[in-house]
Amino acid sequence: MAIRLGDTAPDFTQDSTEGKISFHDWIGDSWAVLFSHPADFTPVCTTELGQVAHLKPEFDKRNVKVIALSVDSVESHNSWAKDIEETQGAALNFPLLADADRKVAELYDMIHPNAEATVTVRSVFIIDPNKKVRLMLTYPAPTGRDFGEILRVIDALQLTEYEKVATPANWKDGDDVVILPSISNEEADKLFPKGYKELKPYLRMTPQPNK
Ligand code: BEZ
Repeated sequence: MAIRLGDTAPDFTQDSTEGKISFHDWIGDSWAVLFSHPADFTPVCTTELGQVAHLKPEFDKRNVKVIALSVDSVESHNSWAKDIEETQGAALNFPLLADADRKVAELYDMIHPNAEATVTVRSVFIIDPNKKVRLMLTYPAPTGRDFGEILRVIDALQLTEYEKVATPANWKDGDDVVILPSISNEEADKLFPKGYKELKPYLRMTPQPNK
C-alpha cells in the first residue's frame, strides 16, 4: 500500500555499508532522511552522495541521521565508495543500504515501472523520532536533488514541531514565520514574546522564535 504523510515509516532489517540495520532501532530518538538512488556507478548519484557527505555536519546539528539506498550489493557499494571519495572529495560517512533484493524499495514504493522498470526513482522520506513520515519527495532518475532544500524543509518541520509556527512561501532560515491557526491570540501573546503582526485573523506573522 502507498505510504502517506503521517503514516508510521515501514520498519525493515537490511544490509548496508555499516552492517545490518534495523531501521527503527537505528533511527532511535533522531529524525531520519532515507533517500534512494537508481543504481551504483551512476553519475548523478555519485554527486549526490558526495554532497550529502559534505553536508553531514548540518544534518548532525539538526539531530537528523541520513541513510541512502541503492539496489546493489555491499561489495558493489564499497567499490563505488572509493570513486565517490576520489571524485567528490568526501568519503561516505553514513550508511548506504544494499537493497539487492529490493525489499526496502518495494516497501517504500520506490520503483515506478512507468518511469524506470528495474531501478528506484530518487525518493526522499523525512521521518520524525516517533517514526512518522513527515515529508516525501520523488525526483526522476536524471535530476539530482537539492540537499540545501532538504535541510530547509527539515528546519521548517522542526519549527512546526517545536515552536508551533508554520513557514510561508519561499521561507528561509531567519525570515518571519506564521503562527499556527490552532493557536489563539491569548496563547500567542504568551508563546511569542517578540510580538506578532495580525494581517488577518488567520494570518499572523512573527519573527522566527529560535533566532
Ligand atoms: C544517474 O546518474 O543516476 C542517471 C543519470 C542519467 C539518467 C538516469 C540516471
